[in-house]
Amino acid sequence: MGNVRAGILGTGHSYPEGILTNADLEKTVETSDEWITTRTGIKQRRKAAPGEYTSQFAVRAARQAIERAGLEPSDIDLILCATVTPDQILPSTGCLIQAELGAHRAAAMDVVAACSGFLYGLTLANTMVQTGQSRNALVIGAEILTQYVDYSDRQTCVLFGDGAGAAVLGPVEGDRGILATRIKSDGRYEEQLYSPGGGTRRPPSAETLASGDHFFKMKGNELFKVAVRSMADISREVLEQAGLTAEDVSLFIPHQANQRITDAVANKLNVDDARVYSNIAMHGNTSSASIPIALDECVEAGRIKKDDLILLASFGGGVTWGGVLMRW
Ligand code: COA
Repeated sequence: MGNVRAGILGTGHSYPEGILTNADLEKTVETSDEWITTRTGIKQRRKAAPGEYTSQFAVRAARQAIERAGLEPSDIDLILCATVTPDQILPSTGCLIQAELGAHRAAAMDVVAACSGFLYGLTLANTMVQTGQSRNALVIGAEILTQYVDYSDRQTCVLFGDGAGAAVLGPVEGDRGILATRIKSDGRYEEQLYSPGGGTRRPPSAETLASGDHFFKMKGNELFKVAVRSMADISREVLEQAGLTAEDVSLFIPHQANQRITDAVANKLNVDDARVYSNIAMHGNTSSASIPIALDECVEAGRIKKDDLILLASFGGGVTWGGVLMRW
């Protein structure tokens, strides 16, 4: 198996043009810009227009990532699309993306791990590259969450937004690349964030639609505490695995769920604000897309330099959580 290490060769992101501001939400539910800003840090989120679908944004993000990696779609041999809002049940969004990209040599599938989906995908792709089963793996996080948001539920409708981010993973030389990964889940917390209708347990019907069973339901307050604890713990685990500490981290990119969650995790880890990336004000929570969008924004803004130590951590429905540590 040798000592092949996988690293990120290129990143990309894309999101809808439509913007939903806090002022827009003030007109439809009993809320205020002040409440949303102080409780979540969110000022606006992207919202897909009717007729737009998840793979369109995934493909745009993927094309950018492949181009920046200096590759062609035909060089990609694995596509993992993390999403809880697929284009359709069958086939996977990964396969639809594969066809659109013309990446005909790839094996393609979806990863369903909610907001941790991208880190689950990175972890799996990392192993595939390390073991030589894949050479160039495309990992995408893509969501149109706004189609599953109940715009009469003020607790959830202020949080979620749409978008996609992508990264191409391939073999790298020297000390660069992914140093440690860890993913975990606990299905006992299913009902903290879930969408009960539309599957085989409650098949879609006029009744499930009328009662809004397909919408996301959330116990925000309970999730908050589990999210902070889990993201801090898993961050420490990947650092320990690599023999490093939070002091060594150049940039911490957490899943963007709530500014107060980000602040609490960074505080627990002792990572100061200057080393934490946040775009929650502009995007809200885009689930599996949040980390790859943030990562690409950092690359584009020149916030990540060669040899920087990058820590990624996520938490989401399932519940699921994950951590990835890499040397850029
Ligand atoms: N506008 C105004 N008031 C709101 C509101 C809104 N959009 N949403 C909730 N409230 C109200 C509640 O009804 C409650 O009122 P009450 O005291 O009269 O009952 C009050 O604000 C406090 O609610 P609470 O749920 O305790 O607020 P909170 O500080 O926990 O913030 C969340 C709510 C949802 C922002 C927060 O819990 C959170 O972000 N949780 C994590 C969610 C998450 O990240 N989910 C995805 C996981 S990846």
